Amino acid sequence: MSVRRLADDSVQPKSFAFTAKNLSWAKQTIKKYPKDKQVSAVIPVLWRAQEQHDGWVSRAAMEEVGRMLDMPFIRVYEIATFYTMFQLAPVGKKAHVQVCGTTPCMLRGSEDLMAVCKRKIAEQPHTLSEDGNFSWEEVECLGACVNAPMIQIFSDTYEDLSPEAMEELLDRIAKGQKIRPGPQVDRVMSAPEGGLTSLNSEVVPAKKTTPRKAVAKATKKAAPAKAAPAKKASVKAAPAKAAVAKKSGPERLAKPKGKADDLKLISGVGPKLEQTLNKLGFWHFAQIAKWTKKDIGIVDDELSFKGRIDRDDWVRQAKALAKGGEAEYIKVFGKKPR
Ligand code: FES
Repeated sequence: MSVRRLADDSVQPKSFAFTAKNLSWAKQTIKKYPKDKQVSAVIPVLWRAQEQHDGWVSRAAMEEVGRMLDMPFIRVYEIATFYTMFQLAPVGKKAHVQVCGTTPCMLRGSEDLMAVCKRKIAEQPHTLSEDGNFSWEEVECLGACVNAPMIQIFSDTYEDLSPEAMEELLDRIAKGQKIRPGPQVDRVMSAPEGGLTSLNSEVVPAKKTTPRKAVAKATKKAAPAKAAPAKKASVKAAPAKAAVAKKSGPERLAKPKGKADDLKLISGVGPKLEQTLNKLGFWHFAQIAKWTKKDIGIVDDELSFKGRIDRDDWVRQAKALAKGGEAEYIKVFGKKPR
């Protein structure tokens, strides 16, 4: 952690005033606190000032907040310099990237993410990129350790990042594209990557736990309705071969030709996802290498996540692996497959 001081006078604006809308919001917020405890509104009001002022709080803004809350300025400075959520100097207009460097994120590759920041933004943290659009810093745990490594940009977090995903994320922000916050791999929130791995059987309905007589009666009454779930179950239990045969689009195989390839060598494919790909009929790099745009769309839908295949460039990775294994991969990507 670096020492947190107010920015140099050369960048400090002479004054700060809330817009009418923000002023009304700040007054409403202050009113939520009891009369003698209104100084507690200092954090939300400072945060609003930061949002209004291009992502950082100037000394003038701190002093204005101090006046509104009748607080000595030094107390507002203390708060703003203590919490890393407050930026004390100008930050990138498009993104100020806060990279979590605490143990779980560090063990999962946050140093590689910082290396990307150094290369693409600026060698030193808290330094604006040449175009003024980006800046970065290392921060302590941001509370999303389960999806480490992660970063925060303004109010949003982006999780489960690899250096490649981080590069792409910065490129897309530079182009003004929208990125969905949260995990950047195929998981929902902090659920397991690639789908559930436990607690994934159906919940037994309460009526099935009632005494045998009651169950028999209920079963008799509900006979027609039961037909539908039975059909659903039979679809689920259909042999893999039949499921594979029904799929259209890219070439699929009911089973591998000889030994299946280790699809986990493709960056972005984990053990669970490999199993899913196998179930869908994909066993070999050569199959994935042949996917067209249309095929990618189809598989994207089947895997229930959009853009992942393109984002991680599975097809190019598969082409290299199909052509010459690890050696070809290193030649193309300059690093070992994971
Ligand atoms: S350690 Fe990075 S979010 Fe907690």
